[in-house]
Amino acid sequence: MATPADVLQDSDARRAGGAAGAVTLTLRIRRFNPEISQDSWWDEFTVEADPLDRLVEVLHQVKWYHDGTLSFRRSCAHGICGSDAMLINGRNALACKVLVDDVGPRVTIEPIRGLAVLKDLIVDMDPFLEGYRTVLPFLINDSGEPDKERLQSAEERARFDDTTKCILCAACTTSCPIFWGDEGYIGPAAIVNAHRFIFDSRDEGSRERLKILSEKTGVFRCRTTFNCTDACPRGIQVTKAIQEVKRSILFDRF
Ligand code: SF4
Ligand code: FES
Repeated sequence: MATPADVLQDSDARRAGGAAGAVTLTLRIRRFNPEISQDSWWDEFTVEADPLDRLVEVLHQVKWYHDGTLSFRRSCAHGICGSDAMLINGRNALACKVLVDDVGPRVTIEPIRGLAVLKDLIVDMDPFLEGYRTVLPFLINDSGEPDKERLQSAEERARFDDTTKCILCAACTTSCPIFWGDEGYIGPAAIVNAHRFIFDSRDEGSRERLKILSEKTGVFRCRTTFNCTDACPRGIQVTKAIQEVKRSILFDRF
């Protein structure tokens, strides 16, 4: 079995030698560096890549071999950590889940919208995480420690299964036109994470969360454009979750 070192060596050799099957990809990347200019600018890089390379690998190639100042977040490279959401050909996506074959021969890459850009593709995630914190994204249960685990039926677990899959990548929130125009809006990702606990039969904090989400910064700012559902790399039915929270506020008389 190939070790990670073998894979890296293969990939470097392919890039250096131009392996059969390699394609030419031109990346147009929106750059920003406040130490150079207050305005953003575009840079273009042309690289050889395998059609099955992921875009995050090509960005590494640009950083390691063309311009070491290019800045972007990434960690797991497997669609799990949520750190490399970017605007790829006008759509929010994780760079590690997009193949060269999906976007070549030219691709445009920009930072996600609605959050201040700190440098190149890195945005300030603080306002996004502030919204997340607001909805109390943790189990609340003051009934005392159980002797064993807190039991739940398969049906009760299934009620919030979809929203457990969130990786906090911000692709949904930063694809939302309401969020772009209204900094106060808590945003889809925070509502998804509230949904995960509101519909958990073991949790006792729903009333408090629904009260927070009924405020003017909460769910009723949503205009159901479905951008969030389209953007979610985990396939979460984000708009459906928002609608379920709205219905709960309107009809469950919290
Ligand atoms: S709901 Fe989807 S798009 Fe939104 S933060 Fe979670 S994983 Fe990302
Ligand atoms: S690098 Fe972790 S999700 Fe893409």
